Amino acid sequence: MGRSLTSPPFTAALIPAAGSGTRLGHGPKAYVEVGGQSLLARSVAALAPQVDEVVVALPQDAGLPAVGFGGKVRAVTGGPTRQASVLALLRACHADVVLIHDAARPFLPQQVLRAVRHAAAEQGAATAALPVADTLVRENAERHWGQLTAREGLWAVQTPQGFRRGVLLEAHLQAERSGVQATDDAGLVARLGLPVALVPGDARLFKITTPGDLELARALATVWDAEDA
Ligand code: CTP
Ligand code: MG
Repeated sequence: MGRSLTSPPFTAALIPAAGSGTRLGHGPKAYVEVGGQSLLARSVAALAPQVDEVVVALPQDAGLPAVGFGGKVRAVTGGPTRQASVLALLRACHADVVLIHDAARPFLPQQVLRAVRHAAAEQGAATAALPVADTLVRENAERHWGQLTAREGLWAVQTPQGFRRGVLLEAHLQAERSGVQATDDAGLVARLGLPVALVPGDARLFKITTPGDLELARALATVWDAEDA
């Protein structure tokens, strides 16, 4: 039934976890363990306390692994691309606000999540992002140093990203109609000319893509898990 105007928006965490983990080479990444916990279980544990429900997109025929949080967590089958998996998640939930977070980013600080959730509810769309710290250069034809690019004002985009569900669904449907593929959801919303708030992210939100990233995550888990305990 409808909530009153003063009650907090019904919020769902949507976790795209249906990728095949090709670059990592250990099968579907969501099931890979870091410090004795799957990447998926880590994301669920970070998200579940701050939302009303958690919906996970899994590879076809894959079962929901043990992630805890009982009836708060359910699974749907993802699609062939990340974008298709997120659209499947959006269609499977009826929340006012959705928080999208990649299972491939297992370290999710609570204060980043809170900030993204608030910005999304108030402004319609928000993403965690970090100001770029490295010098940026475009290669030339010989793959040598070509043109220096000013890093001033440039941000590296992370997840979590948060949206009013209607805003993100509209962005996905328009992208589908125009055949646009993006690697994240905020980009699809920005494409419609709508504002997306940049919320300061965290270096701990790095994405596990390659075997080197996994090694790093396993080493860091021994330190960060002890801090959280
Ligand atoms: N993802 C998804 N559905 C897909 C592809 C990706 O839900 N069809 C999810 C992944 O599970 C991951 C996130 O989107 O949590 C980011 O994708 P990426 O890091 O590229 O993971 P994979 O696609 O699994 O890895 P790879 O590209 O190396 O195969
Ligand atoms: Mg991928």
